Amino acid sequence: FKLTTVEEMEAATNRLLETGAKVGADAWQIRVKNQTPHCKFGEQGICCRICAMGPCRITPKAPRGICGCDAHGIVGRNYLKFTAGGAATHSDHGREICHTLYAADPNGAYKVKDPDKLIRIAKEWGVETEGKDIYDLAHEMAELALMEYGKPFGVQRWLKRAPEHTQKLWHDAEIEPRAIDREVATSLHMTHMGCSSKPEALVRQSLRAGLADGWGGSMCGTEFSDVLFGTPKPIDTEANLGVMNAENVNIVVHGHDPSLSEMVCEYADDPEMIAYAKSMGAKGITVSGVCCTSNEVAMRRGIPMAGNFLQQENVVLTGACEAIVVDVQCIFPALGPLSKCFHTKFITTSPIAQMPDSDYIRFDVGTAAEKAKQIVKTACENFKNRKPELVYIPDMKQKATVGYSLEALVKVLDGVTNSQVDVTGTTKPLLECVTSGVIRGAVAMVGCNNPKVRPDTAHIEMMKKLIANDIVVVASGCSAQAAAKAGLMDKAAKDLCGAGLKRVCELADIPPVLHMGSCVDISRMMILVSELAKDSGLKISQLPVVGCAPEWMSEKAVSIGNYVVATGIDTFLGVDPYVSGSSEMGEWLTNGVRDWVEAAYTVETDIDKLCDKMIERIEEKRTAIGI
Ligand code: SF4
Ligand code: FE2
Repeated sequence: FKLTTVEEMEAATNRLLETGAKVGADAWQIRVKNQTPHCKFGEQGICCRICAMGPCRITPKAPRGICGCDAHGIVGRNYLKFTAGGAATHSDHGREICHTLYAADPNGAYKVKDPDKLIRIAKEWGVETEGKDIYDLAHEMAELALMEYGKPFGVQRWLKRAPEHTQKLWHDAEIEPRAIDREVATSLHMTHMGCSSKPEALVRQSLRAGLADGWGGSMCGTEFSDVLFGTPKPIDTEANLGVMNAENVNIVVHGHDPSLSEMVCEYADDPEMIAYAKSMGAKGITVSGVCCTSNEVAMRRGIPMAGNFLQQENVVLTGACEAIVVDVQCIFPALGPLSKCFHTKFITTSPIAQMPDSDYIRFDVGTAAEKAKQIVKTACENFKNRKPELVYIPDMKQKATVGYSLEALVKVLDGVTNSQVDVTGTTKPLLECVTSGVIRGAVAMVGCNNPKVRPDTAHIEMMKKLIANDIVVVASGCSAQAAAKAGLMDKAAKDLCGAGLKRVCELADIPPVLHMGSCVDISRMMILVSELAKDSGLKISQLPVVGCAPEWMSEKAVSIGNYVVATGIDTFLGVDPYVSGSSEMGEWLTNGVRDWVEAAYTVETDIDKLCDKMIERIEEKRTAIGI
């Protein structure tokens, strides 16, 4: 067993960029050079353009904007706006899923695949389930969930899943999220010209908007996706560009919403469509994925992962991609012009993400089956337009076992205890491993890639170090895909672990880096820590668990960071969230918030140091609880 190194991945990318150069393609590697050095004001968060008296930039000579706002207020407002963007995005994804659930129909495209989970959530929400048709229940629950977005009174229903202590902290700090849309709107209200400029207030609302995401919109997205498409269970798949098949029609799904990718996978598997692909000269159809929509279908169907965020152009550069089909979020507009250099069809499907140089096939729940079929057919028909001289698929892939939803995780970890009846079905076996020291703790590795960090290096190198130190890693999003591409989700990677974690991997038959899903699925991690706290009687903040986004780049990531911190988990960032221009904001985020939520941020761009600090924090937490 051998990991794929970042150097090998880079060599493959360079070979693809040569193809790109032949056809005059642009690439992010080139655009980064053109954009560097970045604007210093933007980098430090001290440029304000929220009113038309500006834009104002803070310098020693000009310490205040025209309205009199100082650097702290400007950085604070920018930070809250950034958070609101992320919370809106995740939550709107969750809303789409609720609408899909509302449209679920036993004779339609979308069915209820996990009725037990739906009933469980209904009971949790106090909804009568007895004698009810499961589709009636689905529609009722979908409507209730949709109400969470705009209810005039009260706070999010999901908050009750948190330990009481955490709920009390949120209440006392006045950061319990009310209606999801309200927290986004309030954030935009607060950041309007002439509203809040006090860092404390802006940070407080940032946590609240983040919680509206993680304990609101994202949780709706995750939980109801499970109800619709099935709760993930361990499943084998493969990762990296080598999963594309030169002899097949290659369809790449990219984006975040499983409503589209599920349907595309469904039809790509249809014998009629496979016959159609063959009639076009291909041997079959291969669907693979990029970014979170890929995580979604990998977790539920074992669909291979072609790559993560910064590999999205690479799939087109293989010259073997018949169609890259996108829904929402993290899609490079660059795919439009890039696809024109090849035969690739760049298919946009959502009114939310419309881009020039794409074929827009509008997708909605009512016409999902028909549109998915049209997309698959279009890809098949495009096979004959391939230019064979441009085809090169790097021969690079790794095996991965994915699908560790909380439900699945609890089940596999039952294997590590002496199976006492009272602990099975709980997080107690995992706690036993942690308290005995067999596992030192856990790190949630999440987030994107960012050219500011050598892509994937931070994810992979940190994970290697963590597992060698007997720290188990749960991963999601592009971080999970980095792990899978490297081979860290192959069960054989247990050999890279310390003796304790290796033993656990063997007993539970798991890889040392556990794929928990897409970015909205970080809500699964919030439930996991809540269960661990309840089962141990500890506070979440006392658990030897930290979060880390070493290569993050999006507004969504900041929203996530805020809810992870607000849930009581220290969070480590490898990229600064444009706050270095304000000492006060820095102080609030890395220290001040601890008084409210018992956790805070650490920002460290030296990845080695970042990892050491996490290990240190985990050991500190162990010492503090005497284990
Ligand atoms: Fe300048 Fe104030 Fe307007 Fe911002 S809100 S652009 S700092 S005048
Ligand atoms: Fe994502």
